[in-house]
Amino acid sequence: MKNFIYLDNGATSYPKPESVYDFMDHFYRNFGVNPGRSGYDLCMEAGEVVDDTRKMLTKYFNGKNPNRLCFCYNSTDALNLIINGMLQKGDHAITTTLEHNSVLRPLYHLYKFNGVEIDYIPFNKRGFVDPDDFPKKFKKNTKLVIVNHASNVIGTIQPIKEIGEHCHKHGIPFAIDASQSSGKIPIDIEELNVDIVAFTGHKSFLGPTGIGGLYVREGIEIRHTRAGGTGVRSAVRTHLYEYPYRLEYGTLNTIGVAGLYAGIKWIQEKGMHKIHEHEMKLTKMLKDVLKDIEGVTLYCQDDLANHIGIFLFNVDGLEAMNTGTILDVDYNIACRTGLHCAPLVHEQLGTAKVHGAVRFGIGPFNTEEHIQTAIDAVKEIAESQIGRNS
Ligand code: ALA
Repeated sequence: MKNFIYLDNGATSYPKPESVYDFMDHFYRNFGVNPGRSGYDLCMEAGEVVDDTRKMLTKYFNGKNPNRLCFCYNSTDALNLIINGMLQKGDHAITTTLEHNSVLRPLYHLYKFNGVEIDYIPFNKRGFVDPDDFPKKFKKNTKLVIVNHASNVIGTIQPIKEIGEHCHKHGIPFAIDASQSSGKIPIDIEELNVDIVAFTGHKSFLGPTGIGGLYVREGIEIRHTRAGGTGVRSAVRTHLYEYPYRLEYGTLNTIGVAGLYAGIKWIQEKGMHKIHEHEMKLTKMLKDVLKDIEGVTLYCQDDLANHIGIFLFNVDGLEAMNTGTILDVDYNIACRTGLHCAPLVHEQLGTAKVHGAVRFGIGPFNTEEHIQTAIDAVKEIAESQIGRNS
């Protein structure tokens, strides 16, 4: 599309590297059989791509055992497996107000229908939780702490290592939602004191939708909440207890795994650090100009240290949805407006009452020219609003 500027990489990365499209096409045409079900050559070759991707991801998370890397559909799917497989009636869990509905809703269901107690740690004015707030909420029945790694709304990266230290000192399992951070910044579960990490393939890993997963540290167990085919030991009546089968159900999304494989390879070739640096340079460009524009309010963008390329703002006097429509129709800029499936963030920011805010999500294929166009567009919209209100 002519002059189309995509700034909705928080929702999904787009476009994907050419190598991702090419490899998915190649893989599915040549190896599109069901791996792990039979022993013929093609089946084994398809299985190799799945195994290699497991190994690459395990290495990325600094896990010790690739079998503990389980594939599922996306982060929501992984988070449901974690939350429902670790909590039951009488348990207590701690989370934050930064969470996406992929954490908030499964927890709320357990609270409402199973009597699980939940505490929510709020974030400060800069968009970070205080690790020392967590132990204040620890109880004898606390069975899970689950925290958003990088916010899909304001972009802040949480002090995971320090929260993990508290959890480990008290023997409480610690899970992170790495939907926005995985593929963008290093995630070393040893360094960060993390037990379980949930990820998706279609954001910063640059793979397609429909593939995600989780890594579970040895010594941490997640109960089955589903059961089905595994391709091995079919005579066993229950779902298998050993990983990865324990948390994988039915035929894998193999073309999704192939796309994820190619996405990770592309990131390795380009250098994850370089991609992140590029995205943060563009985010800083937005911030440096828009912070001084009359009629534009930024949220948690003051200090871009410990931040990903997610930029949240509103134009005063306009509902976020209307700003988004103007950006789309008049400037051909795609972004996401509203509550971003994270209603507690907007409640805390005070933006829920104006139906949310406007989010730019910066990706590896954005350029300075895109960002300059977006800056000029927001400036013009804000100026026209001031004219209208004066
Ligand atoms: N969770 C994705 C977003 O923030 C879809 O837009």
